[in-house]
Amino acid sequence: MGAGADARVAVLASGEGTNLQALLDDPVVGPWICVVVSDHRDARALERARSAGVEAVFLDPGVSPDRDAYDRAIRAVLQERKIGAVALAGFMRILGPELVRPYEGRILNIHPALLPAFPGAHAVENALAWGAKVTGVTVHLVDEEMDHGPIVLQEAVPVHDDDDRESLETRIHETEHRLYRWAVRALVEGRVEVEGRRVRIEEAEGD
Ligand code: GRF
Repeated sequence: MGAGADARVAVLASGEGTNLQALLDDPVVGPWICVVVSDHRDARALERARSAGVEAVFLDPGVSPDRDAYDRAIRAVLQERKIGAVALAGFMRILGPELVRPYEGRILNIHPALLPAFPGAHAVENALAWGAKVTGVTVHLVDEEMDHGPIVLQEAVPVHDDDDRESLETRIHETEHRLYRWAVRALVEGRVEVEGRRVRIEEAEGD
């Protein structure tokens, strides 16, 4: 485990889980991941967790009467496991105050565009359709608005003339996997400093 790391991590994921895999494979972050939570019973992300020997929890949104109740169900899972940091990795639900407030400043999300451009669930398609020449990846802290919280890291990804959704998404994913592990490392090592919307990452020891 990384010398300065000190936070049990939960990853929330709805789908494929390639970002989860990048985090599981990271030598600093991986050992701190205690639980993976999904709103889809068949999410590949849950399989990836089990393969890595990490607890996989399916929480059925259908049994919660509303969003707040579902958020409380997630919060209970996190609190029972003394989770200190949360990484959303393709979790396709907007979190509300029941979850965001107790974990303020400790929930990260990764988004496949340079926010505030192209928020929402179709960022890659929307960047292509707009004719953007550059898009990218944003890691941000989560607040109660979708794709809105303070930006932690961003990196540009060029859009090529012959790109389609698949080719652009593949390039974006490569950038995501590299960026997300750095951001989650910084969070678990307590190196993320927030002042209003401005976020600074302190250098790691030995950088
Ligand atoms: C990623 O593109 C991420 O930016 C977005 O959802 C996608 C999840 O991909 N929030 P994966 O499940 O990690 O492969």
